[in-house]
Amino acid sequence: MKKFLSTSRLNLATNSLDWVMGQTIRQSLSLKDAVALDELEQLSVPEKPIETLYIHIPFCHTLCRFCSFHKIKFNEGVAKEYFKALRQEIRQVIAQGFRFNRVYIGGGTTTILEDELIKTIEMIKSLTSIREVSCESDPIYFKEGNPHLLKGLVDRMSIGIQSFDDRILKASGRFEKFGSGLQQAEYVSHAIDIIPTVNLDMMYGFKIQTPETVASDLAQTIRLNPDQITTYPLTIGIGKNRKKAGGLAGRPEDLWPQFLAVKEAMKERYIMEFPWTFSRNFGQPVENKYVLDGEDCFGVGSGAFGRFGEQFRISSFDIPDYINRINTGHSGTCYTKPLQNKSLSQHHLMMMMGHGLLDNQQFKAHTGKSLWQAFPLEMSYLISAGALNKQGNNYTTTVAGQFIALKMFSGFLAGMDYLREQARDLPLNKIDTSASA
Ligand SMILES: C[S@@+](CC[C@H](N)C(=O)[O-])C[C@H]1O[C@@H](n2cnc3c(N)ncnc32)[C@H](O)[C@@H]1O
Ligand code: SF4
Repeated sequence: MKKFLSTSRLNLATNSLDWVMGQTIRQSLSLKDAVALDELEQLSVPEKPIETLYIHIPFCHTLCRFCSFHKIKFNEGVAKEYFKALRQEIRQVIAQGFRFNRVYIGGGTTTILEDELIKTIEMIKSLTSIREVSCESDPIYFKEGNPHLLKGLVDRMSIGIQSFDDRILKASGRFEKFGSGLQQAEYVSHAIDIIPTVNLDMMYGFKIQTPETVASDLAQTIRLNPDQITTYPLTIGIGKNRKKAGGLAGRPEDLWPQFLAVKEAMKERYIMEFPWTFSRNFGQPVENKYVLDGEDCFGVGSGAFGRFGEQFRISSFDIPDYINRINTGHSGTCYTKPLQNKSLSQHHLMMMMGHGLLDNQQFKAHTGKSLWQAFPLEMSYLISAGALNKQGNNYTTTVAGQFIALKMFSGFLAGMDYLREQARDLPLNKIDTSASA
């Protein structure tokens, strides 16, 4: 244990990190300085394609107790109108000259209206060339839907399982709609046969989980041979969602032994890309690109976020308002917020820590500063917490460092929850529809 410090010292280090992250989130991700977007404001079209077009589908069959993503309970009429508006927004964006390398369709449940999803992807592919389409879905789609229709349209599918333990499925409100753990394993095995790259989302940090049950959940996941496995630490946020999700969560100190159980369960057949994502080490190599890797992202659809350099962009969280904005020829984005350089650098630090190497030269080439110049407090904290090993000019992350990166990732998820909570409360950015199409 010497290598990762004593458990109590690590707990102390991570508890103080939780506190600091809570403060940082409140300061840097407050929407008090969000600016209602002037309809006349036009983003200049970059010469190079933007890395990701993010499309949000805010509908689900069931609303899970732990989840604070932007979604409402599925209503077919509203969802159909929504998809129509969404395609209109995408056409507008492409007509303005924007181009993208990849499309990430997230939710919610993107396959909730399969024919509408197909129409949307086909439309994008007919208007512009893209390298890859990624979607998020739930397990029941692979029983009730027609996933073979997505062949040639969807390159990567990310499916939420969370746990095969029926007690967790019941406590979080998933059992009734998606079935037992055994049934879900059977449904998603069809996806693995059809879609080129399949990721399964698993979660840990629930009250009734132990290192042993986490290991058995992952053994069951690995038996399905997915290309990727994401292991999310249950995040309860810092705002209103904390009460709802908090009832499901275990003690903070139980996360460390569960993280070690995750690493142990995965080590034989999966490579850890980040302490929360794993790719199989058998077969063809898996291309690994994530929305949060820090590259620019254009968001469309209700509740989508986008980021260009230091500007954060927020689309209307009110679904009827979003549809109305698009149907009257306006942009779906209605607020922007300046992002501090410091927040962007902290994100960069989290990704470097997660990746396992803090390369001083590369960092300096990117930011003009050395690691110690950019993060004097953070570096002192990481060294004293036993998170880093010095190797020449660079640092590698220890197992304790990987765990701290995981806690930072959980802080990032909490920050996104906090943004969504505030965005829902922003006054509607009223548009003048009198002069519109
Ligand atoms: C937006 S959901 C979409 C997946 C799909 N709707 C489903 O549930 O099957 C993406 C993933 O976020 C993760 N997630 C949701 N709420 C979370 C929370 N509070 N903490 C950590 N991960 C969470 C879950 O693993 C989920 O599969
Ligand atoms: S976890 Fe998935 S199915 Fe559950 S509410 Fe969130 S987005 Fe919907």
